[in-house]
Amino acid sequence: MPAVVVVGMQFGDESKGAVVDYLAEWADLVVRYNGGSNAGHTVVAEGQKYKLHLMPSSVVRGKRGILGAGVAFDPEVFLQELEDLRSRGKGVDVLISLKATLLLPYHKELDAALTGGRLGTTKRGIGPAYQDKMARISGLKVSDLFSSNFPKRLRDVLEVKEDELRRAGVLTGDLEEYYRQLLERADSWREALEPFVGDDHLEVNAAITERKFVLFEGAQGTMLDVDHGTYPFVTSSNAIAGGACTGVGVSPLAIDAVVGVSKAYTTRVGKGPFPTELTGDLARYIRDRGGEYGTTTGRPRRVGWLDLPMLRYSVLINGIGYLAIRKVDVLSGLDKVKVAVAYEIEGEEYRLAPPYVDTLERVKPVYEELDGWSVEDWSELIREGWDSFPEEVKAYVEFVEREVNAKTIMVGVGPEREMTAPTPALGDLLSL
Ligand code: IMP
Ligand code: MG
Repeated sequence: MPAVVVVGMQFGDESKGAVVDYLAEWADLVVRYNGGSNAGHTVVAEGQKYKLHLMPSSVVRGKRGILGAGVAFDPEVFLQELEDLRSRGKGVDVLISLKATLLLPYHKELDAALTGGRLGTTKRGIGPAYQDKMARISGLKVSDLFSSNFPKRLRDVLEVKEDELRRAGVLTGDLEEYYRQLLERADSWREALEPFVGDDHLEVNAAITERKFVLFEGAQGTMLDVDHGTYPFVTSSNAIAGGACTGVGVSPLAIDAVVGVSKAYTTRVGKGPFPTELTGDLARYIRDRGGEYGTTTGRPRRVGWLDLPMLRYSVLINGIGYLAIRKVDVLSGLDKVKVAVAYEIEGEEYRLAPPYVDTLERVKPVYEELDGWSVEDWSELIREGWDSFPEEVKAYVEFVEREVNAKTIMVGVGPEREMTAPTPALGDLLSL
């Protein structure tokens, strides 16, 4: 069985959680490699809805999951999700990398005070935690929590950060008192986390060597990648497929395929350029039918038509060979659907999105109009299989496949696990 990366092709929220849950039926291991609890992976299965922020989506099927070295690990969120899942009768079989970045309460407060407003972040402390990781003198890892030197390291870090914490109004009283309280909280996490921590690189590489089915679960999306997205309106990690290698410690040669996940349209939550953005009634129609409100923050998502220059950019950057196209049901009822096939920039046409904010703000999408579809009962079609889908839906999906040069393995028409129609190419992926 293959090692496969599942990656978002847009601005996150493509419904990677549902895709990973679907593929997890065959998977042995599901591995998160980037981000932290800024993610909002929704899985609807067995009549229940799970909104996961930090846990790998494998927990819903009770499969083994890994939080890799590239993850910003928030102990409080993890322990909360653990408790929630257990109270719903789910055992949690997860390994937390000792190399993961430790995200502390003050990272969340700094995010809310500094980055949140300017960039429209999720305020989960992601930016500040990765900032400290890169700065090194102010960062801590999960392994530090389990070191006998932890009290000293935490004190050193707080000394470096004291001015910043005071300026942001996060620390107002006595540093020594703040330190003691934090140390106490850390003690309580240590005991609860101890059974979960370990060496992600050993377990994942062993699984790959044994030809197990390893699924790497990307968080956020290509256009939110810190290096390749619409900087500075991005997250602080590598969301792209390459992040799976750096975020776990596996060779690029170990990855057999990359599945790109895209909605049948586009959404974005937070600030930044959005060439195909819609406003007015049409935007409301799609937002309401698609339930386009942030899983993590509840903010209404911005919505727009499908953007092929962006998807082509994603295919290129990630090496995407397979597509999962989601939320096709949301566009149902529209007479015509538009797709941006190119951008016009100062009289010239471009087929590939330039990932620069200033340029993206100026591009004019060139649209092609396709016939819409109107379906009352998708379950009926799901029972009959992909072949029974309306010609217009098939034409839409095939149009996208041709334009971006990748094969579709599944089409999603609802949030529930059953509402996914596999296509013949899924077999190709599973037999790799
Ligand atoms: P941060 O990751 O919280 O720093 O937020 C940076 C940007 O990424 C903001 O525009 C967020 O709305 C966006 N973002 C972060 N995580 C997700 C996600 O899982 N889905 C969609 N957008 C996200
Ligand atoms: Mg989400």
